Parts: sequence; C-alpha cells; structure tokens
Amino acid sequence: MKNIVVLVSGGGTNLQALIDAQQSGSITGGKITCVISSNPNAYALTRAANHGIPTEVIRRKDFATMEAYDQALTALLREKQADLIVLAGFMTILGSTVISNFENRIINIHPALIPSFCGEGYYGLRVHEEALRKGVKVTGATAHFVNEVCDGGPIILQKAVEVRTGDTPEVLQRRVMEQAEWQILPQAVRLFCDDKIKVIGGTTEILE
Ligand code: GAR
Repeated sequence: MKNIVVLVSGGGTNLQALIDAQQSGSITGGKITCVISSNPNAYALTRAANHGIPTEVIRRKDFATMEAYDQALTALLREKQADLIVLAGFMTILGSTVISNFENRIINIHPALIPSFCGEGYYGLRVHEEALRKGVKVTGATAHFVNEVCDGGPIILQKAVEVRTGDTPEVLQRRVMEQAEWQILPQAVRLFCDDKIKVIGGTTEILE
C-alpha cells in the first residue's frame, strides 16, 4: 500500500475527487495519509479533517530562503514516508531538493492541455483567461510528473474539454474541473499506485 501525500493551497476540489475515488474503491493500491497545505485557511484542510486525514501547514513566507523552505518540505515529506506526492492545486513552486528526492513520484494536475497555457505564471483562473483570450475551441487538463521545468515533466494523462461561446473564465474553469481534472487526476493516481506508469525519457507509457 503506497502512502499518498496531497499538497493543496485552496478549495481542494481535486483533493475531494481523490478522497471520493478512494472511498468508492477505485484507488486500492494507495491511501491518502496526509494533506499538506501552503495556506492555513485553505478549505481543503476542512475536507481532509472531515475524512479523518491528518493535516500539516507549511508556508513559504515562514522561511527566509527558498533553500530553507525546500529542505523543510523535503524533511516533512520524508517524515510522512510519502511514496507519491500529488499537487492538487498547490500554488507554491517546489524547490530542487524536493524534486530530486521524489523523481517521478510527484504528480501535478494542470488545467490546460500542456504544452498550451502552461509554465510560470499560468495557474488557476489565469490559465482559463488566457485560453479565452486566445480563442481556442478546445482546452482541457493534464496530469503529469513534476521535474525542474515548470509544467514540463512527463505527461501521464490528458483530457480535452470544449470551449463554448459566452464562456467566462469561471464557467470554463468549472467545466474543465468537472469533465477533465476530477477524472484524470484520480485515474493517474490509481495507475501510479498499481505500478502501471512507465517513464521513458521525457514521456510515459501506460501499461494497461
Ligand atoms: C485546479 O484547477 C488546478 O488544476 C489548478 O488550480 C485549481 C485548484 O482547485 N492548478 C494549477 O493551476 C497549477 N498550476 P482545487 O483547489 O479546487 O483543486
């Protein structure tokens, strides 16, 4: 059984999708053992507490340097014996120590079809604002492993979602969550826990 540690910053709907998948029995090879938030007021912490999942808060601003924060987060993840780390709306950039200690063991959910609308500055609602500004007709979500390049790690799963006339960033965000993120994130976690993801160079192969 793999220990899954979920990192959050906000509302935690993707965390909820993972909790629901665990409760419905679709993730059997792993268990969410801890939720770590960068924000003490994140509603995601309430969702975790409602399900009896232990929580921790670690704030970037409590550390003088990126290096000190990176070391502290790495130590916390080791203490929690994390086998898999899931970034579920985690809005703090990870440092190189965390990334190198957990190579191909950190999964992020991004609200666009990478390599579109990704990289530094593309997070949350901003991603959907940019997609609407560009006028794309299709967007979606991507579950991928995290490496040193922001949103640049091996892609695990993607799902497309249509953009409709009259969409606002909020409406589009909700559709992308419902139709893509809440489906592919639990699916990627299940595949990881069942050892069904093979990383080959910068890409992945799904073994099923
Ligand atoms: C989600 O849309 C997630 O894809 C996005 O933030 C939202 C968090 O919502 N993540 C990023 O933009 C990361 N670059 P949630 O807290 O309700 O899961």
